[in-house]
Amino acid sequence: MGRADQSGEDPVTLRSDADHPASKDAYIPLLYGRSKGHSLRSNHQRLMAELLPRVAMPAPEKGPIDLAALFPQAEEFELEVGFGGGEHLAWHAGQRPKTGYIGAEPFLNGVAKLLQHIEKEGLSNIRVHHGDARPLIEALPSGAFSRIFVLHPDPWPKKRHYKRRMISPWFFVQAARLLESGGALRVASDIPDYVRWTLMHAQQAPAFEWTATRAADWRERPADWPQTRYEAKAIKEGRPPAYLEFRRT
Ligand SMILES: C[S@@+](CC[C@H](N)C(=O)[O-])C[C@H]1O[C@@H](n2cnc3c(N)ncnc32)[C@H](O)[C@@H]1O
Repeated sequence: MGRADQSGEDPVTLRSDADHPASKDAYIPLLYGRSKGHSLRSNHQRLMAELLPRVAMPAPEKGPIDLAALFPQAEEFELEVGFGGGEHLAWHAGQRPKTGYIGAEPFLNGVAKLLQHIEKEGLSNIRVHHGDARPLIEALPSGAFSRIFVLHPDPWPKKRHYKRRMISPWFFVQAARLLESGGALRVASDIPDYVRWTLMHAQQAPAFEWTATRAADWRERPADWPQTRYEAKAIKEGRPPAYLEFRRT
């Protein structure tokens, strides 16, 4: 989305200023960038009005989510948190038609872009949560996911905002709960401080081990990890990403 270098903050809603999510009352549903960009083109407006209701996830506030009811054909499930323009999610969904994909993204224009992929590529195995991923995560069933992706999460560079970072002790607890044994958590970042932050929290998460055994394992993007526009821009601007994969032990 090219927004990692923005310093402007646009609070969407502020329910509580308590610490990073530990309970449902403690979400700080703030976005680092904007929740809306330019106004939607008419095709995107049509997709939001007509396609989104058909592929939307149930509201997490309604209680635990039954994945088998949403994806009757799926053999496994994968989740992407903050899918941006949806190109990474759509690529995986096209590769694995028998896997049910869930994507969460609060940025309106990003959701519209993913809907365009779904329509153009005829993808029937994606469900979309337009909003904060955190309440959704808490409503998803334990042990149901084979992979979780968090690519280039918003950096929140100011120390007083660290509690708003998606990667957090809360997140590792939830990822450990959602992933099946042997499942993978993939995190990418082009911001060295966020890479260190992620590795530090991973080290403190007993349910995960970092799969890298040599520098190339995190410096080079694996073949089954498609590049996003955000990533291409980061590389062009001299910020090579780290590609981190953690295994659920
Ligand atoms: C820097 S962009 C990266 C987008 C995409 N993952 C990529 O690599 O192209 C960070 C994304 O995280 C999304 N995001 C921020 N807070 C979020 C939250 N609480 N839940 C889900 N997504 C969130 C933003 O809207 C934005 O699209």
